[in-house]
Amino acid sequence: MDGLNKRKIEGFGSSLARRVEVHEEIGSTQERARELIRTDPNVSHGTLVVSKVQRGGWGRLKRRWDSPKGGLWMSLILRPRIPASLAARITQAAAVGVAKALRGLGVGVRIKWPNDLLVGDRKICGILAESGFERGESFVILGIGLNANLDPGGLGGMGYEVATLRSELGHDVDLSNVLEAILRSLETELDRIDDFAAILQDWKSLDCTLGRQVRVHRSGKILEGKAVDLSPEGALILCTNDGLIEVFEGDVAYLRF
Ligand code: BTN
Repeated sequence: MDGLNKRKIEGFGSSLARRVEVHEEIGSTQERARELIRTDPNVSHGTLVVSKVQRGGWGRLKRRWDSPKGGLWMSLILRPRIPASLAARITQAAAVGVAKALRGLGVGVRIKWPNDLLVGDRKICGILAESGFERGESFVILGIGLNANLDPGGLGGMGYEVATLRSELGHDVDLSNVLEAILRSLETELDRIDDFAAILQDWKSLDCTLGRQVRVHRSGKILEGKAVDLSPEGALILCTNDGLIEVFEGDVAYLRF
């Protein structure tokens, strides 16, 4: 049921998938996208790398990302029109785009700040935006890992509970249909990235972090407080014993009390 092939994906006509690579197996699509940027001066916005299996996928903070056959593992090369300083917006715009696509498939995902997609407290999709400069131009590699036609029990050792499309829908899905829905929805969100307030409004309507007591690991320090709001650029505002603190990046854990 994977249906993933280059011709079909290029046939979607998505501006995010003008040039497509589909691999049976690779180390990491993120690494392959980076290699394309490094070695191919013509690599353009809208290059998509997909692999049916990743041997060495990684997530945020370089954590291992289990990527067996049955999942959707992909990296998109973006050359954003926005200044590099605003590239962080892509993280949250992507979370909104993928969340809407999955909700369209009937999966009630919510967003945990900044961009994890959860069903209840179980993670179904991880998003990783890595940015940089090459030949004087900024780029973002947007990695998306979606647990699709997999059993949650087969994704051991991630250190948290996971969900999959199979566990939520009760059946397997055609990965090319899912990919098409994700690309369409991402295109819509990225096209309106200048109107970031509108994206954050949708982010908040899909959020499952605000109002919760959280612990944030940030550059070796631990912060605890209640997640109360987002700043206009998407930072998490925590109400702590030391007052309000804006968190631009970090790893959020929910506290049960
Ligand atoms: C996270 O939640 O920590 C982000 C996970 C991102 C995983 C995807 S799978 C496709 C792409 N290739 C990788 O090695 N990582 C990303």
